[in-house]
Amino acid sequence: MADAKLIDGKAFAGGLRQKVGAGVADFVAKGGPKPGLATVLVGADPASQVYVRSKGRLAVELGMASFDHQLPEDTTQAELLELIGRLNADPSVNGILVQLPLPKHLDTAQVLIAIDPAKDVDGFHPVNVGRLGSIAPGAPLDFPVPCTPLGVSMLLQDALGSLSGLNAVIVGRSNLVGRPVAQLLLRADCTVTITHSRTRDLPGICRQADILVVAIGKTEFVKGDWIKPGAAVIDVGINRIPTPEGKSRLVGDVAFAEAQKVAGYITPVPGGVGPMTVACLMFNTFQAARHKAGLAMTAA
Ligand code: GUN
Repeated sequence: MADAKLIDGKAFAGGLRQKVGAGVADFVAKGGPKPGLATVLVGADPASQVYVRSKGRLAVELGMASFDHQLPEDTTQAELLELIGRLNADPSVNGILVQLPLPKHLDTAQVLIAIDPAKDVDGFHPVNVGRLGSIAPGAPLDFPVPCTPLGVSMLLQDALGSLSGLNAVIVGRSNLVGRPVAQLLLRADCTVTITHSRTRDLPGICRQADILVVAIGKTEFVKGDWIKPGAAVIDVGINRIPTPEGKSRLVGDVAFAEAQKVAGYITPVPGGVGPMTVACLMFNTFQAARHKAGLAMTAA
């Protein structure tokens, strides 16, 4: 059997970013206010600093405003909530992103619930989680949807067209990825199975999947012989492993070399799902600005 077709998330994300940039230019040319994204980072974790900076920079590249708030590690819950209150009230801010994880002394759930659901471009607010959890099949996504899951569903729809009736198996039940991906694929009329670390005969269940989405956070966990020939495999994992030369490289949650020989479609790591997350964040920020302006808001 021929090797799987690569799903080029990097290229798709580039196209999506371009569409957002063009959409923003048109929106502003027609008199709309410049969309704005506020990022909030508490503490000085270097990886988080890089992520947050790249989000702000991309927003500016696409014609939006970026408001970056860097708070010290010892910021109190009250101080953080006060900042969120100000961002909620600020009309130039359409999207608020609080970079996770927060330092341990802060209550993440209380912070997320404080964000105005209309500005919740991560889609983590319980109101938006509930909207996604109760959406009717095929109904419009007229509220913010978590970025990585949205990216996964865009890539699948681009590769396969209609997903109706397909068996989708999701490996991983996190609130960030597994559960929202399940909701999006149910909306697209898939038959969805969510699996996790306690699932019995995981390889056997994976072998039933026309669509296999893996977000378990374990290096090369899913093997080639777990995959149904021709299946579409979406690898959400990003694991850094040492190389024999003393450097490091990124690998996914799927044993790529084996999987590629069996699957019909597969996302590489890096260059698959990863670039979609920030592109979808830009998409969500622009959609929030459109929604506020009374324009239709729809994600894919
Ligand atoms: N940290 C890692 N991924 C994410 C994300 O998608 N959103 C936020 N807010 N923080 C993160």
